[in-house]
Amino acid sequence: MDYLQIKRVKSLNGQIKISGAKNASLPLIAMTILAKNNVSIKNLPHVADINTLLKLLSNLGATFNRGDEITTVDTSSLTETKATYDIVKTMRASILVLGPILARFGHCEVSLPGGCAIGQRPIDLHLKALEQMGAKIDIKAGYIEASAPDGLKGCEIIFDKITVTGTANIVMAAALAHGSTTITNAAREPEVVQLCEILNSNGVEIDGIGTAVLTIQGTSGKLIDIEEFSVIPDRIEAGTYLCAGAITRSELTLTSVNAKHLSAVLSKLEEMGSTFTITPDTITIHPSEIIKPVKIVTQEYPAFPTDMQAQFLALATQANGTSIIEERLFENRFMHVSELQRMGADISLNGHVATVNGKSKLSGTDVMATDLRASSALVLAGLVADGTTDVHRIYHLDRGYDSLEKKLQNVGADIIRLKEQQ
Ligand code: UD1
Repeated sequence: MDYLQIKRVKSLNGQIKISGAKNASLPLIAMTILAKNNVSIKNLPHVADINTLLKLLSNLGATFNRGDEITTVDTSSLTETKATYDIVKTMRASILVLGPILARFGHCEVSLPGGCAIGQRPIDLHLKALEQMGAKIDIKAGYIEASAPDGLKGCEIIFDKITVTGTANIVMAAALAHGSTTITNAAREPEVVQLCEILNSNGVEIDGIGTAVLTIQGTSGKLIDIEEFSVIPDRIEAGTYLCAGAITRSELTLTSVNAKHLSAVLSKLEEMGSTFTITPDTITIHPSEIIKPVKIVTQEYPAFPTDMQAQFLALATQANGTSIIEERLFENRFMHVSELQRMGADISLNGHVATVNGKSKLSGTDVMATDLRASSALVLAGLVADGTTDVHRIYHLDRGYDSLEKKLQNVGADIIRLKEQQ
């Protein structure tokens, strides 16, 4: 197993190229199940979750060719319809194959994903919506068994709660269904928008893209020809490096990035004192010497993303004053707090609200990553902590950050990947 060793440096400087979005890539790879052609995808990030989903598809009989620039996925030979526990347990987003496989083959089995470090994360809304579309769903021996031998039927779905992968799953199911499906209270995340735009530009009529009400005209089972496309930039990776600039008081320029997807994050960084120069595909952060405290509530897009909560919590430890950070989406997403406390942060937790009293002098020590974004918060803290910070269990980080230590090394960080002693 690897770990990251980080030593404090005075400041960072230079450019960081942002990779394709992991959370956009996952539904887009699942979408290839709806295609009749060999689909070319540009800008897939080199992260473990993408490899996991490609492996899942290849276990089901699909073939893929993973290139540096372009990955092709051909699901014409996909015949197996059971996503087994060994793979689903490593990545909950495997549930994204349920909608498209069921829509194409009329049946699908997916292992129940099981527990998750950041909270319960049920999938009841995915299942309820598929049932409304006429699927019969049974839970047997840890598996979801879904069948719709005569195809799925369009209907009106109202999500009780906004769900990102739930919306993506149902959009893909609806794309091959008979008739029209309306999803009310749909997720509006840029990753869902890209999925809808690509389906729409390849012949699946979708109205309301980017709004909370989507209407999808199904193709009645007809597979789709999907043209080459390029995955949107990863807004969470970008947000993490903006926090790296802010916490080390360094001017950094992000390239291949879309500032429009980062409005809530940029606005909170501005409140904390940073300013920005923005072009259509770059963001330069001009940080302030004094970081101001902030109030943050995580919510669905376009509000502040839960996937940036841990990084801002690390940044708030260096603010002059008290920040209040409220987590509204996942009940257990504060596991990084105890690790940051071990580094000297003054944070008190009351339910889903963290009160961060800055500015704390952080000291490097051994810390444990507990989930993907918590890992990057510990890296950020390590950049400004005295001494050496060793971040262990970085397999969490490798799930979603493409070449993190190389990108940080390139801008002057003292960070290396080492092997744990056995
Ligand atoms: C996606 C993102 C994840 C992000 C999250 C919230 C991917 C691969 N992952 O996760 O990075 O943190 O959105 O922005 O895109 N819920 C239910 N029942 C359901 C589904 C969800 O109660 O059937 C609840 C969840 O427990 C949570 C909330 O709805 O409280 C939002 O979850 P959801 O949007 O589904 O998260 P994911 O799609 O799993």
